[in-house]
Amino acid sequence: MRSHYCGEVNESLLGGEVQLCGWVHRRRDHGGVIFIDLRDREGLVQIVFDPQAAESFAAAGRVRSEYVLRVTGTVRPRPVGTENADLPSGRVEVAAAGLTILNAAQTPPFAIDEEEEVGEDVRLRYRYLDLRRPHMQRHLRMRFHAARTLRRFLDDHGFMDIETPVLTRSTPEGARDYLVPSRNHQGSFYALPQSPQLFKQLLMVAGMDRYYQIVRCFRDEDLRADRQPEFTQLDIEASFIDEEALMSLMEEMIRRLFVEVVGVELPAPFPRMTWIDAMSRFGIDRPDLRIPLELTELTDLMKTVDFKVFAGPANDPNGRIAALRLPGGGTLTRKEIDDYTTFVAIYGARGLAYIKVNDLAAGRDGLQSPILKFLPDEVIAQVLERTGAVNGDLVFFGADRADVVNESLGALRVKLGHDSGLVAPGWRPVWVVDFPMFGRDEKENRWVALHHPFTSPKLADAAALRANPGGALSRAYDMVLNGTEIGGGSIRIHDAAMQSEVFSLLGISAEEAEAKFGFLLRALQFGAPPHGGIAFGLDRLLMLMTGAPSIRDVIPFPKTQTGACLLTEAPSTVDERQLRELGIAIKAAKSPKPA
Ligand code: AMO
Ligand code: AMP
Repeated sequence: MRSHYCGEVNESLLGGEVQLCGWVHRRRDHGGVIFIDLRDREGLVQIVFDPQAAESFAAAGRVRSEYVLRVTGTVRPRPVGTENADLPSGRVEVAAAGLTILNAAQTPPFAIDEEEEVGEDVRLRYRYLDLRRPHMQRHLRMRFHAARTLRRFLDDHGFMDIETPVLTRSTPEGARDYLVPSRNHQGSFYALPQSPQLFKQLLMVAGMDRYYQIVRCFRDEDLRADRQPEFTQLDIEASFIDEEALMSLMEEMIRRLFVEVVGVELPAPFPRMTWIDAMSRFGIDRPDLRIPLELTELTDLMKTVDFKVFAGPANDPNGRIAALRLPGGGTLTRKEIDDYTTFVAIYGARGLAYIKVNDLAAGRDGLQSPILKFLPDEVIAQVLERTGAVNGDLVFFGADRADVVNESLGALRVKLGHDSGLVAPGWRPVWVVDFPMFGRDEKENRWVALHHPFTSPKLADAAALRANPGGALSRAYDMVLNGTEIGGGSIRIHDAAMQSEVFSLLGISAEEAEAKFGFLLRALQFGAPPHGGIAFGLDRLLMLMTGAPSIRDVIPFPKTQTGACLLTEAPSTVDERQLRELGIAIKAAKSPKPA
């Protein structure tokens, strides 16, 4: 049907005949001549319809935005002064000889030609039109380019692309499962995989040595800008490898990705930070190192103060008091500070004490704060010294359970960084390592796996692990870029006894372990090689590389915050007959939670 893409028509084709197909991007009637910008995947070209070619001129008069056309014509230079330097085809135009209207189009609900502000609901309902817009075309193209670059790298390094099942058993990655009822086994359910974790480990037992897969994962969790219920992992596993070799290979891959797809040189090697360091300095295990703000430890300092708000957490083994200094923060208004107090409350903080540093030389009189009266001179002096405060600064305080302080001040740090224009440009990758093996679920009074239960502890000795689970570190690593966790993995347990020990520490009884993971425990007894791997969130990588505000913008057909697809209106009710076949009866349907 066509000889060239619209976007490919340029001076090299001058004088030649072309056949083009595409959509009417814009049509302009210029007294006697009709101009149509015809658009396809590769770009735009200007077509000129002259009244002399009467039939196609008449047809051109009938077309509207987004009509689908086939045009034949001759490439000629644009008249001097009418060139468009912004378009690759901007020095030429096509003098139309023939025009076929391949399809008509209704007036679209939003213009395709500009990046006009369109409500996301409308965009998602008409996603096929939204995807015609230039920035979405760019995102999908970049996604394809990224996937191709990653595949090539892994292919070249001996990794094999192997598929794993989608209808499977639940794999605990910490989220809720999506369940699929079975017709043949009524009352039983498949779970959609939260990740191919166990299958990729079984592939190592099977001797595949190096595996990868670009694979859809499903997690029924609360959605955010960087979380979708179904998302894509670049999933990787290798045998006979330790964390050093794996991490350096993965770094090389991500560096290659950034160079080839966005022309960015990431640092080599990526810096590393221990989990403890990340938590104490940034309050979070995925620090955004572009922001030059850090938490200051004050817990030890506040043990003996009279101020209960501080002394309480200071003397609680699970408590923490930390400060966050904002350079130049002295100019914050009362209202701004109140707004930040409301902001940290989202994370459970019960207040946000602060000290404004007006004039250090003036002692107490040079400070302004609602808590000054509760603190003795030497404590104030220490706070100022430890935070490095200078005149014009403001120091915030968090005092609570350590997790509350970390979450609230960690989030405040990022917010202050953005609000105060302190985010440095560029790319700041970091590996976070030395994660604790277990975290404490205080409500249920038990250990939970910080990564997943198949992660190897650093200690190879099961008795030592049992003696002090809370102090044990794991062989896990996360790759973090500009405050987003883009990948995470670990060296795995390949010893059946150690795996049983970890299950038992997690409160999984031998019977339950056998019922849920018997297949894994058995496989580990048939010559499992030492192995480890990682999975990257492809959507998150693309969100960062495109600069999109949400991963929804790099997924062709994403779900909304409530997990709905506005285009197909999934999830939907089903026929009574389908339910009967599955042996399912609906008791009562709750309406969806608002986002
Ligand atoms: P993890 O759970 O850390 O590890 O997931 C790996 C990466 O997947 C991305 N990711 C998500 N992206 C979008 N939406 C979500 N809901 C979502 N959840 C996770 C993140 C994350 O770093 N089996 C292990 C990997 C391993 O140990 O090899 C796993 O799934 O970028
Ligand atoms: P109050 O004694 O409740 O009036 O609090 C005095 C100051 O301490 C106020 O500025 C509060 O915002 C702050 N504050 C109260 N609780 C906390 C907390 N847990 N962490 C940090 N600041 C707090």
